[in-house]
Amino acid sequence: MGGRLIVFEGVEGCGKTSQMQLCAEWLESLGISVIITREPGGTELGVHLRRLLLEKKDDQPVAEVTELLLYAADRAQHVAQELQPNLAAGKYILCDRYIDSTIAYQGYGRGLDMNLIHQLNQIATGGLKSDLTIWLDVDVELGLARKRGDALGLDRIEQETIAFHRRVQQGYADLAASSPSQIFRVDGSLSKEIVHKTIQEVLHLHLKELK
Ligand code: TMP
Repeated sequence: MGGRLIVFEGVEGCGKTSQMQLCAEWLESLGISVIITREPGGTELGVHLRRLLLEKKDDQPVAEVTELLLYAADRAQHVAQELQPNLAAGKYILCDRYIDSTIAYQGYGRGLDMNLIHQLNQIATGGLKSDLTIWLDVDVELGLARKRGDALGLDRIEQETIAFHRRVQQGYADLAASSPSQIFRVDGSLSKEIVHKTIQEVLHLHLKELK
């Protein structure tokens, strides 16, 4: 069986982490070996970039283009070091965020130039696309409320305005509408079990080896 890249996307607090875990356990129970990874932070270099990107320093704000370039650098390293080799080895990869996050957050959220974002995504990935992307759609305020309940507190991006997060959400809605055969919307406000079952159905329907 060839490798597969399955990406999970969505606004803050959409439930990606727990759904990826459930999905990995389910796939493993079918005899498929799974790798879970994420952006930013899926490599050792990326762990450093993630910290730089998400810690909040009010005295030295990160410039928007710097932010974009750091996400692109994280992705370039991740694709080269993790995604490409594991796909070549036939592995199943579940990836927490990928190129659509940059379109949604830096494109829709920050309003940076979409052509520049597409070019950087292309450079970072060499054109590698997901086989399938699950968009966990939750209301922005519900997601942020979940995050506020976390012991860790809100990071630099989570602390952005509600208007920013709404633009990100619109980004995902537009992406899903324009790529209906690649990005699948799952209602993330339902119970964990129902969301997991729905994700199983999407994978069954669209990945031929699971049919
Ligand atoms: P996470 O906490 O869901 O792992 O995501 C890290 C944060 O980074 C989240 O706020 C979304 C943001 N992000 C971007 O703004 N652009 C990107 O390209 C990626 C991958 C993440």
